[in-house]
Amino acid sequence: MSVLPNSHEALLKNRQSLNGRLAILGPVDTGLIAALTGTGLVVTEHFGLWQQLGEIDGWRAAFGYDDPALEPAQADTVVVFLPKARAELALRLELARWLAAKGARLIMVGEKKEGVAGAAKQLQAVAPGAVKVDSARHSQVWQADDIQPLGEFDVRKWLQWHPVECAGIRFEVAGLPGIFSAGELDAGTAKLLDSLADVPLTQGPVLDFACGAGVIGTWLQLYRRSLGQPDIVVDGVDVQSQAVLCARSTYQHAAAGGVITASDGLEQVNGKYAAVVSNPPFHTGIRTDTSMTGQFLRQVAEHLEPGGELRLVANSFLPYEELIRRHVGQVKAITGDKRFTVWSARRH
Ligand SMILES: C[S@@+](CC[C@H](N)C(=O)[O-])C[C@H]1O[C@@H](n2cnc3c(N)ncnc32)[C@H](O)[C@@H]1O
Repeated sequence: MSVLPNSHEALLKNRQSLNGRLAILGPVDTGLIAALTGTGLVVTEHFGLWQQLGEIDGWRAAFGYDDPALEPAQADTVVVFLPKARAELALRLELARWLAAKGARLIMVGEKKEGVAGAAKQLQAVAPGAVKVDSARHSQVWQADDIQPLGEFDVRKWLQWHPVECAGIRFEVAGLPGIFSAGELDAGTAKLLDSLADVPLTQGPVLDFACGAGVIGTWLQLYRRSLGQPDIVVDGVDVQSQAVLCARSTYQHAAAGGVITASDGLEQVNGKYAAVVSNPPFHTGIRTDTSMTGQFLRQVAEHLEPGGELRLVANSFLPYEELIRRHVGQVKAITGDKRFTVWSARRH
């Protein structure tokens, strides 16, 4: 049996506190849910994890903050795990209070290194009766009884818009707590966009892998429009529910064309594209590693038309060149500096 994260073990140690209908928000390991004897609702923003959670008997799995499985007053105990991005905790706590039935208990669990002590202050701001009930496995367990449920929850109210500008194209990007690079244009993304202005893609449909808030696809279409070139479609995939929601909103706002799909890696991608562009992750949202992008590079050729181009930006220290050559084709660096390199390869 695999080892669970410390925060999950700490909750299991306190399982006697889980009463009635359960809602578990933000676990990162399915093993926790399988180990709980109760049934209920489990919410994750990670599409791959959501698929696995949906297979556990007795549990309903919700993908992100706008899943139709989310209904008010449906839980007697709501557990909140700390999100990676602190900005997301307020959103998660609000969802927790909306899911809570009258008289419900709210439990928050997090590791010390995740900043659970600071998070507890946020918890106490919305549930003043919250107290620490256990310290175990380098984690703390906080509990508030008979919390004040919320009558309304709408993740769209959390959408924030910020302007982005690159190569003379300015547009508005949607943001939500927890999304990559909220409020600013990532330096790697900017490098990729500059390369697309300097060395344009050949005509045809494009896929933006790991699209985040849809910055690359929107820019690409607006840039072509500014040159009077015919419209193209840029589909996008991302594993995170907030990213899918934001990318759809950004596209709609800019009247950009393309379908945004939730997908863990390329799993949900069916078509073939004239080009695949990406500023890929080097952590999965759950673990910090490059295996996700390694897997993407091994599979991406299947989704490129013959002669189709992969255009990817990555931190220059990451060892992608050889992988791209082996699995896609001849590769060259279009631009590069100490921080970022933009790679281009054509499918052989
Ligand atoms: C470096 S960000 C780039 C976002 C966007 N393309 C941009 O340039 O602003 C990487 C994105 O990869 C997504 N991601 C992480 N793991 C993934 C996976 N397994 N499958 C698909 N997308 C993933 C993250 O949610 C994040 O939005």
